Amino acid sequence: KLVPVLLSGGSGTRLWPLSREAYPKQFLALTGAHSLLQETWLRLAGLDVAPALAVANEEHRFMVAEQLREVGCTPAALLLEPVGRNTAPAIAVAALEALRQHGGDALLLVLPTDHVVADAAGFRAAVRSAVPAAQAGKLVTFGVLPQTPETGYGYIKAAPGEGVRAVARFVEKPDAARAAEYLAAGDHYWNSGMFLFGAQRYLDELARQQPAMLAACRAALDAGRRDSDFLRLDAAAFQACPADSIDYAVMEKTADAAVLPVDIGWSDVGSWSALWQVAERDAQGNARRGDVLALDCRDTYAWSDKRLIALVGLDDVVVVDTDDAVLVARKERVQEVKALAQRLKQDA
Ligand code: GDD
Ligand code: MG
Repeated sequence: KLVPVLLSGGSGTRLWPLSREAYPKQFLALTGAHSLLQETWLRLAGLDVAPALAVANEEHRFMVAEQLREVGCTPAALLLEPVGRNTAPAIAVAALEALRQHGGDALLLVLPTDHVVADAAGFRAAVRSAVPAAQAGKLVTFGVLPQTPETGYGYIKAAPGEGVRAVARFVEKPDAARAAEYLAAGDHYWNSGMFLFGAQRYLDELARQQPAMLAACRAALDAGRRDSDFLRLDAAAFQACPADSIDYAVMEKTADAAVLPVDIGWSDVGSWSALWQVAERDAQGNARRGDVLALDCRDTYAWSDKRLIALVGLDDVVVVDTDDAVLVARKERVQEVKALAQRLKQDA
């Protein structure tokens, strides 16, 4: 059984003022009519999957449940975290629950819910072709050809070969110098953040690499409370769980990582410029959402919730107008929005 695990715990502050703690990126309809979470589910249509397991912060439970319901997704369980402990524990509780529901053969298809994949059919084909490797005990990643020496991603050095390849090395978030080196090497891929592996296989790996984490996740689930579709993890037990991402906690350390290179129009839309890149643009490179008039502008991105935004003679700017805040920034500096959002939080 192929069990989709929808990871929905992040906050995405680099898309302020649209993305907020109470309303993070995965719940926003950034590219069309559906939110990124909904798109993640819809992308699976045609794959033979079991009901999904969603893992989210307690605070977002109604939003997750409602958005999934809207696209016809009835999760087998919605696992609720009282606090975020990053992705390794989130996947661990899903793995434990998948084993309980499906037994030892369950494969987990771990999916971040805040990404864009333009080629959904290509994505499904990739998943299908990775299944045999996962059944054989590999922890399969999906690698994206790097474009820039981005430091916010994991880098995967692939062994030579075709299809699903062995991983020679996995380095999470290298510094700028190493990222540039990996980009130049030509045999490295970005980790897309999606994974395919046996639920039991992942737990075995945790037992070896992170025994305290596994014990805490087990305790949080055992002492958790089920009410209808919600499965609330025990607060004290989960709070005591060490926080770490799957990338550092498992992928950098395992001897059994594999990578399937994919070309599926993947973007983690981590910034306004990334969103501009995947958006539909006019002949002058301007992308817009809502009511926008751009005269003699180039490569701009404008987002309006309700009012008209009018731009004249501007290049490479981002303008985002929401109910209570307006962002105006040069496109090449939108990474600094994260710091801006943090500053606003401190001042508040
Ligand atoms: N349920 C739950 N709980 N989900 C979480 C938590 C948590 O505590 N923390 C993060 N997530 C979700 C996020 O919402 C996102 O969908 C996914 O897990 C990945 O977390 P990020 O925090 O966005 O990770 P990252 O972007 O720093 O790095 C990961 O993704 C990159 C690609 O976008 C890594 O896997 C990198 O190696 C990878 O390149
Ligand atoms: Mg991310």
